[in-house]
Amino acid sequence: MNSPMKTIIEPFRIKSVEPLRMTTREERCEILARAHYNLFRVRAEDVLIDLLTDSGTGAMSSEQWAGIMRGDESYAHARSWYRFRDRVQALTGFEHIIPTHQGRAAERILFSCLGVEGKTVASNNLFDTTRANVEYLGGRGVDLPIPESLIPSRELPFKGNMDLEALEALLAGDADVACVILTVTNNSGGGQPVSMANIAGASQLCRNHGVPFYLDACRFAENAYFIKLREEGFADRAVESIAHEIFSHADGATFSAKKDGLANIGGFLAANDDHLAAQEQELLILSEGFPTYGGLAGRDLEAIAVGLVEVVQEDYLEYRLASTCYLGEGLERAGLPIVRPPGAHAIYIDAGAFLPHIPNVQFPAQSLCCAFYEEGGVRGVEIGTLMFGESAKLELLRLAIPRRVYTQSHIDYVVEVGGQVAKRGCDLRGFRLAKAPKVLRHFSAELEPLG
Ligand code: F0G
Repeated sequence: MNSPMKTIIEPFRIKSVEPLRMTTREERCEILARAHYNLFRVRAEDVLIDLLTDSGTGAMSSEQWAGIMRGDESYAHARSWYRFRDRVQALTGFEHIIPTHQGRAAERILFSCLGVEGKTVASNNLFDTTRANVEYLGGRGVDLPIPESLIPSRELPFKGNMDLEALEALLAGDADVACVILTVTNNSGGGQPVSMANIAGASQLCRNHGVPFYLDACRFAENAYFIKLREEGFADRAVESIAHEIFSHADGATFSAKKDGLANIGGFLAANDDHLAAQEQELLILSEGFPTYGGLAGRDLEAIAVGLVEVVQEDYLEYRLASTCYLGEGLERAGLPIVRPPGAHAIYIDAGAFLPHIPNVQFPAQSLCCAFYEEGGVRGVEIGTLMFGESAKLELLRLAIPRRVYTQSHIDYVVEVGGQVAKRGCDLRGFRLAKAPKVLRHFSAELEPLG
C-alpha cells in the first residue's frame, strides 16, 4: 500500500510449482467434441488456464501449509477447532460458529432449520446452489437486484446492491418471507460489490418486519475492500474493521471458505440465536459431523483460520483487484464487451452483446466459452440460459480467477486468446441441448453445435 511505484506486484513469491500440459488446437477441438461441448466434462489436465471457478482453486501460503501440519485430528474439541472458531468469531462477531464442509452445506442446514417450505427467500441475487437448496426444501427464491445491474455497460460503484424499495414492497406485502440473504459480493450479478449503506438498509428493513437477515459472505473481504476504496467514510479504516461492520448488520451468515477463506475446502454457518444454533448443530451431527469439526479435517480448520487472517491484508487485496481489472481491461481492448466495472473475483464477458446473431435459446455465452477453450485451452463458465434456463436475464461468460495462482503472463495469454476469439465473432454458432438433467443442468448437459 502507498508504494510510490506504478507496478502492483503479486505480493508473494512461488515456492512450489505445478506444471501445465500444453495441447494443440486440433486436440482441443476433439476434446471438446468428446465432452459434448460442456467444459464441466473436460478433464482438468486438458485445460491450460483454468478459470472455471475461483472456488477451492487458490494456492495456500506457507503459513497455511504449516497449519496443515499442525492440524489436530482429535474427534472432539481439537485444538484446531478452537483456532478456527476464535478466528471466525473475532472476524465476524457472531456467537455460534458451525463448521461445514462447504458453503452449500451451510445453506442446506440454515434453510432446513428456518423452515422455508411454502415461504420466500429474498436476495440481491441468489447463487445457483443457494436457490436450488431453497427450492429443494419447497421454498421460493426471489432476486431483487437494483435495475442498473442488468445493464452490463453501466458504470456504478456498488452494482451488486439490492433494490431496497422492492424489498420493502415484498416485506410489506402478502409473501411469507422466511429470510433475506444478501450475497456479498454479488456473484451471479457480475461479481459486483454491495455498499455498507445497502447492507445496513436491508438489515433495517428486515428488522422492522421481524424477518431474519443473513449474509452469503463467500467474498466478504473483496467486498470490504471495495467499500474502503469506493464508499465515503471508509478510506482510513482497516479492511478487518470494515468486514466486522458488514457482519454486525446480520443475524448470521453462510460462508464458503473456498473463496475468501483462501482454502481448498470448508465453510461455516454462523448465527446469534441460541435456539436456532442448537437446531442447526443437531442437523450438523446428522449429516456433516460433530459440532467441533463438521465435515472437515482438523488440518482444514487450521488452513481456514490462517486464510481468514491473510485475506484481509491490504497488499493482497490491492493486488487481487488490480490483477482482475488488468484482465478485464485487456479483454475490452481486445474487442470483447465486459460487465463494467470489473469486480474482484472474475471478469464477465457480455456474450449477449458480442454475439447478437445467436439467440439466447442457442446459448451464446456457451458458444463463447467453447471458443476460449478451442483457441487457447482457457476454461470459463457460462452464466446464462444454459445455467438458469429461460429465466436468465443476461448471457455472460465468467472467467473466474483463482487466488494467488496465475501470474501476469498467464493473464496476458488469456487476453491474447480473447483477441483471437474476438476475431471469430460473427463466425461463432449456437448450440442445441441434446441431453440434460432437470436440476442444475449445466454441470452435465450434452450439447450439439448448430450450423
Ligand atoms: N454462494 C456463492 C455466492 C457462491 O459463489 C458459491 C459458490 C456458494 C454460495 C456455494 O459455496 O461451492 O462452497 O458450496 N460458488 C462457486 C462458483 C462454486 O464457482 O462461483 P460452495
